[in-house]
Amino acid sequence: MFLLFALAAPAAALINSTGSVLTPENGTISINGGEAANPSAFTANITINLQQYWDLFVGPVATATINTTVAATPVPTSELVPPPPLYYSSFPTGAQNPTVLKNESWKFPSGFFWGVASAAYQIEGAAQAEGRGPSVWDVFTHRSTSITVNNDTGDVGCNEYYMYKQDIARIAALGVPYYSFSISWSRVFPYGKGPVNELALQHYDDLIETCLQYGVKPVVTLFHWDLPLFLQNEYGGWLSEEIVGDFVAYAKVVFGRYGNKVSHWFTMNEPIVFCDEYPYPKNYFSAVTIAEADQKYFCGHHVLLAHAEAYRLGKSLGLNGTIAFKNNGGYKIPLTNSTDDALAVQRAWDFNEGWFANPVYLNGDYPKYLKDYVSTLGLEFTADQKALINGTADLFAHDAYTSSFYMAPDGGVAACLANSSNSLYPGCFNTTNVNPDGWNIGPAADIYTPWLNQATDWVPLFLRYIQDTWPSAGGIAVSEFGWAEPFEHLKTTKVDILYDPGRMMYYKNYMEAILIAISEGVNVVGCLAWAIMDNLEWADGYLPKFGVQYVNLTTFERSYKASFFTYIDAFKVYAEDPVVPVYV
Ligand SMILES: *[C@@H]1O[C@H](CO)[C@@H](O)[C@H](O)[C@H]1NC(C)=O
Ligand SMILES: *[C@@H]1O[C@H](CO)[C@@H](O)[C@H](O)[C@H]1NC(C)=O
Ligand SMILES: *[C@@H]1O[C@H](CO)[C@@H](O)[C@H](O)[C@H]1NC(C)=O
Ligand SMILES: *[C@@H]1O[C@H](CO)[C@@H](O)[C@H](O)[C@H]1NC(C)=O
Ligand SMILES: *[C@@H]1O[C@H](CO)[C@@H](O)[C@H](O)[C@H]1NC(C)=O
Ligand SMILES: *[C@@H]1O[C@H](CO)[C@@H](O)[C@H](O)[C@H]1NC(C)=O
Ligand SMILES: *[C@@H]1O[C@H](CO)[C@@H](O)[C@H](O)[C@H]1NC(C)=O
Ligand SMILES: *[C@@H]1O[C@H](CO)[C@@H](O)[C@H](O)[C@H]1NC(C)=O
Ligand SMILES: *[C@@H]1O[C@H](CO)[C@@H](O)[C@H](O)[C@H]1NC(C)=O
Ligand SMILES: *[C@@H]1O[C@H](CO)[C@@H](O)[C@H](O)[C@H]1NC(C)=O
Repeated sequence: MFLLFALAAPAAALINSTGSVLTPENGTISINGGEAANPSAFTANITINLQQYWDLFVGPVATATINTTVAATPVPTSELVPPPPLYYSSFPTGAQNPTVLKNESWKFPSGFFWGVASAAYQIEGAAQAEGRGPSVWDVFTHRSTSITVNNDTGDVGCNEYYMYKQDIARIAALGVPYYSFSISWSRVFPYGKGPVNELALQHYDDLIETCLQYGVKPVVTLFHWDLPLFLQNEYGGWLSEEIVGDFVAYAKVVFGRYGNKVSHWFTMNEPIVFCDEYPYPKNYFSAVTIAEADQKYFCGHHVLLAHAEAYRLGKSLGLNGTIAFKNNGGYKIPLTNSTDDALAVQRAWDFNEGWFANPVYLNGDYPKYLKDYVSTLGLEFTADQKALINGTADLFAHDAYTSSFYMAPDGGVAACLANSSNSLYPGCFNTTNVNPDGWNIGPAADIYTPWLNQATDWVPLFLRYIQDTWPSAGGIAVSEFGWAEPFEHLKTTKVDILYDPGRMMYYKNYMEAILIAISEGVNVVGCLAWAIMDNLEWADGYLPKFGVQYVNLTTFERSYKASFFTYIDAFKVYAEDPVVPVYV
């Protein structure tokens, strides 16, 4: 069933209007999950203000007891003591202090940028503070039991909105030189477009100034999945080309405000993933008429146009930071040497990384196997659009967590392509983490992150593949990588939580993999560890933990995990630029 949702007033009018009062008859949607109790809410023309908009589509939102900006307190030197090492010498002395031999062939060249990363909805909290409008993720977490596993929301998150000074002081104390975070579009534009919310900009002014004061360089992502709800309800969000202009208008405000204070800009985070969120669950958003299975490709089409226009705008404004988008996905290894598996692997690249990388890094157009399909949907770029998109990234940013095997579907690629009912159609490739011998490709991460195995052995090959396939003059940045320590959420004492051997191993191996790639001539220019601290892992709530810092969700106290020291050690040993801890 298709539902119509119409707001009577344009966005600008909504903010000030208190025209009509919502009643259960014309607008109540059940709280705490379940589809719309009264779907006619979507068909009513209503005039509401921002608070009523929240109330109607999201419902009650939790607030934190700490709700004003907290000054940074100095990090006590007692917290800056590294843990006992995970790896012991082959001839133990009992000293727990083995000699680690430096490999003289390895180095992170001068200028290598490294740090830790976050995203607005995952850490900020303060969901309604200072005029923030709702995003689709507020609806997902509050309303849709089919999406979240644990009814967790980002209402309070890590309360970073008020605690950012402390968070920046804590990474500066360890000498971390870059902090990658995202700006919440629906803070800056509560309706995604229309009036700008000056309070939000003032917040990000201070976040960026605080970074600079502490010698931490800001890396900013414009869009990390938190689409303003209004844009989804008005025209289907990324499903409509209308979003291109609205995204660019948002980029213009942020670029104009922060300009050369930002070292690296990312327009979009992981479009493969957020486009794959479509189709959204029914009855929480206004309906769209595009066939469900094809919605993601419409999203991708508009993402490419929006990214490209934002990139061109940034260049025309003379921004001196790099501009790119964050692509994502694991290395794809053929399960066998059959020609059908080789074909499946190429199809997997084309339907994933290549979807966004070929247009931006090669020629403005989709890769072959994807193009064969999306051209049947009318998704073709004009010559002008190809020219617009081609070459719109200053480096190749990849969120490269893991690797997997890929193979043809049961019955083969050709049979799948001939049968649109095949569950793997239209990609027609299959994947597994289990190798032909029956072993996992590497140790599994947490049970809530079944997509993640520790497969760092493949990272040098992966980085070389990226360099060879989608060359970028600015090199490759591993814009996210990280590890969900198995069962970490079940640990009950802080000391147990903080000593995280799986994550220590992941970072040690991963950093060595980058060093090997660099030593073999791959131009890796930076890396950003996910995440600065434990946070809302989207639909998986607070169960999987990716932080290099623990956050006590009762007290909001932050604590360094052992793996944070492992990560920093790599730079202490191998960076040509010195690691400078700032003790404040
Ligand atoms: C809502 O308002 C618009 C513009 O006034 C009008 O075109 C539309 O028919 C109305 N829809 C409903 C369901 O009343
Ligand atoms: C902040 O918290 C205090 C105490 O819990 C509360 O009285 C106040 O209304 C809150 N303010 C905001 C803006 O949430
Ligand atoms: C989530 O909320 C729904 C609706 O209130 C409830 O039925 C369910 O038990 C909750 N789940 C958890 C894990 O708390
Ligand atoms: C960009 O410009 C700012 C302000 O002039 C300057 O501080 C910064 O070093 C520049 N960054 C680069 C990468 O040139
Ligand atoms: C594929 O062929 C290569 C080179 O001949 C060989 O090293 C490798 O073991 C083969 N892989 C499989 C899964 O058979
Ligand atoms: C895309 O841009 C690159 C340079 O960035 C150029 O070499 C190539 O010819 C362009 N391709 C097309 C199809 O315009
Ligand atoms: C995909 O591979 C799995 C084994 O990993 C298999 O069980 C499943 O049937 C395959 N699916 C299709 C549609 O080929
Ligand atoms: C197409 O795939 C569906 C789902 O796997 C299957 O039930 C059906 O038999 C297949 N049709 C043909 C003609 O193979
Ligand atoms: C988190 O803080 C609460 C309140 O102080 C405390 O009871 C709890 O033990 C802490 N959790 C851990 C794992 O330290
Ligand atoms: C040192 O690095 C080189 C180049 O990456 C590598 O070939 C060699 O195996 C490394 N040595 C050790 C002991 O890891």
